[in-house]
Amino acid sequence: MKPHEHAQPPQDYSRYMDLKEGWVDRRIFWDEAIYERELEAIFARCWQFVAHDSQVPNAGDFVTTYIGEDGVIVSRHTDGEVYVYLNACTHRGNKICFADEGNARRFTCNYHGWAYSTAGELLGLPSEHAYDPGDIDRTQWGPRKARVASYKGMIFATFDPEAPSLDDYLGDYRWYLDAFLDNDEGGIEFLPGTIKSYANANWKFGVENFIGDAYHAWWTHDAGGRAMMGGPFPPYDPSDTFQASVNGHGWEFALEGVGDIAILGSQEVIDYYTAQRPKMAQRIGELRARLFGSLASAAMFPNMTFLPGIHTFRTWLPRGPRKLELRIWTVVPKNAPESVKQAINIGCNLTFNPAGTLEMDDGENWEGNTRTNRGWVSRHEKLHYGCGKSRQIEHPELPGIVHEGQFNDANQRLFYQRWADLMNAKSWSEVPQRYTPRYAGRPTR
Ligand code: FES
Ligand SMILES: [Fe+2]
Repeated sequence: MKPHEHAQPPQDYSRYMDLKEGWVDRRIFWDEAIYERELEAIFARCWQFVAHDSQVPNAGDFVTTYIGEDGVIVSRHTDGEVYVYLNACTHRGNKICFADEGNARRFTCNYHGWAYSTAGELLGLPSEHAYDPGDIDRTQWGPRKARVASYKGMIFATFDPEAPSLDDYLGDYRWYLDAFLDNDEGGIEFLPGTIKSYANANWKFGVENFIGDAYHAWWTHDAGGRAMMGGPFPPYDPSDTFQASVNGHGWEFALEGVGDIAILGSQEVIDYYTAQRPKMAQRIGELRARLFGSLASAAMFPNMTFLPGIHTFRTWLPRGPRKLELRIWTVVPKNAPESVKQAINIGCNLTFNPAGTLEMDDGENWEGNTRTNRGWVSRHEKLHYGCGKSRQIEHPELPGIVHEGQFNDANQRLFYQRWADLMNAKSWSEVPQRYTPRYAGRPTR
């Protein structure tokens, strides 16, 4: 059986939740067997972010990362294409690249010296005369390659040949992504440097926080918010705030235009975006120009998240059911003046890196959520996800499954719906389509 040919699901994963009633079973954040199925049915199947174009601009540039727990090399080859393949030698399995990023002409394994090209092909092996004719066909022994596709500079990969196209996988979520990736003709770039941190927490707690947990910010981040903004968050006002979900991806947001940007604590950045706003409105429309920079957070299923106005961007890499590796970058508008980029970088790191005023608050909570499941009884208890069950609306402009009110569990419920749909499906053809796209086959900008 090939890795993408999934076995019959060992159980019905829908029993771990009742999203109409509004609860999720705690075992999905703890259980080893459920985690193993996640590696197969979620991570070996879905498109996942692996790099941005700005991280691998030249031939030979590479980064290493993970798809689930599978290490991968993401490299730009001399033909200009980006290739993604397992970071594992096909001889005895050692890593073929130990660096996080760099530029290389080839990757050579430490153990016996097999060498691979930046397109993931086996180039040669030392003492090849030890092999008789017919012992090895080099063309068949490159590391397993993933499918690669990109959206506005963001490079994604999947190991599943049957996965839908990236455009279909993103669906109308592209409409929201454009507010972040394409609000200016220069697009975005990643600033150099990857910050890594680890937490003893289930990967889904990080993602569900970004997909739709504005609720926690007013309580968890009260002190940090006061430090960055000089006062408390304004009282929660549900009017003109929303949660939108497409294919398990989500964006929760207000429409006041500067809430997230203000958290960066730089008047220069606020002024820059205030001046940009009319141009932005011309490019992506009035509504999305207000959406970008507002108090908001977003996540793409399964494990890529970002804060559109705070400019932090991250992936949550699973390391077992009770541990995660977080990778963080600062993203800036490519055409912004250098001083604005620096102000964004400083604000972003003061708030959302492992020592940031807001980040530390969160990690402690997610570790707490995970650790309490140690007890056999606790593990079998439900968690409440029932906020805002009756607030679904049709909106003339906002695509996706839209709910009113930023304090809402809607995006989280729909994230777990997608999770269960994938966990229960033998192949992509069995994954139900729960939303009819408005922009199928069409650009969203
Ligand atoms: S394990 Fe890589 S060359 Fe032998
Ligand atoms: Fe938070």
